[in-house]
Amino acid sequence: MSENAVPAGTRRKIAFVGSECYPFVKTGGLGDVMYALPRALIRNNCEVRVILPLYNCMPMKYKEKLEWKGSFMMDLTMEGRTFFVGIMETEMDGVIYDFIDNKEFFDWGNPYTGLWEDIPKYCYFSKASLAVLNYLEWIPDVIHCHDWQASLVPMYLKTRFNVTPVGKAKSVLTIHNLRFQGICSIPHLKYWSGLPDYLFNYPVLKINEQECNMFKGGLAFADWITTVSATYAEEIQTPSYGEGLDSHLRYHQPKLSGIVNGIDTDIWNSDTDTLLEAPYNAENFLERKPADKQNLQSEMQLDQVAGRFVLGLVSRLTDQKGLDLIDAIFPDLMDGNTQVVVLGTGDPRYENAFRYYEQKYRGFVSANITYNEGIAHKIYAGADAFLVPSLFEPCGLTQLIAMRYGTVPIVRETGGLKDTVQPYNAELNDGNGFTFDKYLPAKLLEAVNNARNLFFGDRWHWDEMVRRNMQKDVSWEKSAAQYTELYESLCK
Ligand code: ADP
Ligand code: GLC
Repeated sequence: MSENAVPAGTRRKIAFVGSECYPFVKTGGLGDVMYALPRALIRNNCEVRVILPLYNCMPMKYKEKLEWKGSFMMDLTMEGRTFFVGIMETEMDGVIYDFIDNKEFFDWGNPYTGLWEDIPKYCYFSKASLAVLNYLEWIPDVIHCHDWQASLVPMYLKTRFNVTPVGKAKSVLTIHNLRFQGICSIPHLKYWSGLPDYLFNYPVLKINEQECNMFKGGLAFADWITTVSATYAEEIQTPSYGEGLDSHLRYHQPKLSGIVNGIDTDIWNSDTDTLLEAPYNAENFLERKPADKQNLQSEMQLDQVAGRFVLGLVSRLTDQKGLDLIDAIFPDLMDGNTQVVVLGTGDPRYENAFRYYEQKYRGFVSANITYNEGIAHKIYAGADAFLVPSLFEPCGLTQLIAMRYGTVPIVRETGGLKDTVQPYNAELNDGNGFTFDKYLPAKLLEAVNNARNLFFGDRWHWDEMVRRNMQKDVSWEKSAAQYTELYESLCK
């Protein structure tokens, strides 16, 4: 072994850079992953620092815990304008969180604003993340960047920062959702990023003569690309799922892999969940889960009839989530024995549709058009089955949580849904849920009907599936080990 070689088992330093992280600020699954994966990595002998924007919308109880670590001025933009970079830090269970403070960029939004403002915001954030690591003299082996908001990090790393201490770090860029890419006019990004001019001449950032794409640039410059399931890693290389970047991804395929997400099994533990009426586990769910169902029905103003089939939906209300299919079959869902509980916010078109169904089918439908962690836990526990009929789904966490809570998922066979929910097989008495392939209302209805038939007609097999799902390993353990191996291979 040479003097510089690192023996196996060496503690690696990993910096996470991303735009949201539970419990500080979360709008979806990215926030969950930014929380849970670092915690799983530290159990795998990694040292992890998570770099985040200090958004004004972060709850005061977290802001109060932050400790000032220093500040400096950083140049940004083509003109070299200088901007303040403050560093506020906190530690939680061994993971260090460094928040970048700048009121000009982070005082608006929830936390996102609109692309026009978000482009400068995340140019600043990406560059400041590297500057902060240099300032703190904490030089990671790998910088793990997440989604388009952090996708300029690999570009800055190999250009403006390549001769600075942090320049020796390797970069991984994870695609959580290819739909959002940070596309804008070339002059807008050229101005704000201050990246060298020549980068805008090649099809690295450029998508046509007028526009460029931050994600595209990051994917080209990252040392490795991951996405959050093996199936999505394949799908995004096709025109149907590639969101315009399929040929770019096929070109970069040799450095692309899929690692499926897990969930934090401490937060999502039906046996210790203090938000539940009656916590339960795989041994006692038959006696205890019904109390959670009854409580859900009562809190959601649904008719309190134990025999009803309760379908849950916890989701961002966007077209990604297959809500058009649900809308199309809604009258068929309402068979007199089925209740639907919805929790979500998003596109007014879907928000209003669910509000309308709640009025139309009183006692059978509950539409909670809000973001609320407590209600989410109650739905995962109180429902019998859970709908995730997505148009596309890079991984999806809600089906994992539902399984862990013994709530049977009904999913479309795409992305991570396909990789994590095996279709129920009556003959073999195995599988985790009800699945369908083609994005058609009739296919979703067929899957729901299959679920209802088993629920009403063969409860013994239904309960077997519930038990199987509750015992399924949906933790981060295996996937964190895969990330650790990946980091190790990049460092060699
Ligand atoms: P995505 O990231 O595409 O939104 P995921 O399934 O990966 O989808 O993750 C969604 C996460 O956000 C889950 O933890 C889910 O419980 C949570 N979530 C979504 N909508 C709401 C809501 N309205 N209230 C509470 N939690 C929500
Ligand atoms: C994205 C995807 C979702 C995934 C999450 C976390 O928001 O839409 O499928 O689970 O990121 O990786």
